[in-house]
Amino acid sequence: MSLSSVLRSRSEGKPVSWVTCYDYSLARAVENSSVDFVLVGDSGSMVMLGESSTSPATMDQMVTFARAVRKGAPSKPIVGDLPRGSYEPSDEVAVMSAMRFCKEADCEAVKLEGGARVAPRVKAIVDAGIPVVGHLGLTPQSSAQFGGYRVTGRSEREADWLVSEAEALEAVGVSAILIEATPPDVSQRIRSSVEIPIFGIGAGPNLDGQLLIIHDLLGLYPDFRPKFAKNYVVDSLRDFVDSLNAEPDVVRFGRETRRDGFYELAVRSLNLFAGEVIEGTFPSSDYTYL
Ligand code: KIV
Repeated sequence: MSLSSVLRSRSEGKPVSWVTCYDYSLARAVENSSVDFVLVGDSGSMVMLGESSTSPATMDQMVTFARAVRKGAPSKPIVGDLPRGSYEPSDEVAVMSAMRFCKEADCEAVKLEGGARVAPRVKAIVDAGIPVVGHLGLTPQSSAQFGGYRVTGRSEREADWLVSEAEALEAVGVSAILIEATPPDVSQRIRSSVEIPIFGIGAGPNLDGQLLIIHDLLGLYPDFRPKFAKNYVVDSLRDFVDSLNAEPDVVRFGRETRRDGFYELAVRSLNLFAGEVIEGTFPSSDYTYL
């Protein structure tokens, strides 16, 4: 799937699945799954480097992650997540940072957090020929300003503000918007106010795509798991074990195909997620902020 077909998800009515990824080996699993595309998120700062927030992420780290993912997943569109401090100072800094993702890691697009306040940066990057995905709702880089990690849009005032933020981003040319941790009725309001695809992470069902952090999907990050983070390993494990038991020579099966370990479990889990996104069964109410 190309980036342009991902971005046609809304007009084609086919929701897309995306996961974060930061390293070569899991990128191989993503490459061989039916997940549509990849975000190299600054969440890598937490799940890969052990920081307690996304704030310390640097462009050098993000480019290192993105290069590894590009090598592991050559056929998947990759969105590079601009870390805190890499786009706020000026339009020039924003364009240079976005360009690094394209030139050094062959990314197709970048993502950045915020609405009207980052609109000039978005415009500058789009004018430089790089597609931009916006990010609204819970925006971890500026969460201190908005009362910490919390569901956004619960009050009428905040919901109205999110709608105006989405409109401001659409006006300067974002290709899509990711909304994080909003109640489903607010996500639907945002979606109705713009024409571009709206993707969600913890933003309820019936959107144009769903994102999960790969470490949540695989149950790899023990420190914190938000409500929307469904772990797919448990569901894929039984079939996996059955398939290994059905194979008469497990050692040979593994040696020749490398399909007997965590890699295979990851591919199966990713496929389950992608299938549920297409069917519209993820996220169910158990994984939604009602
Ligand atoms: O860095 C990241 O993984 C993100 C998601 C939480 C949306 O920005």
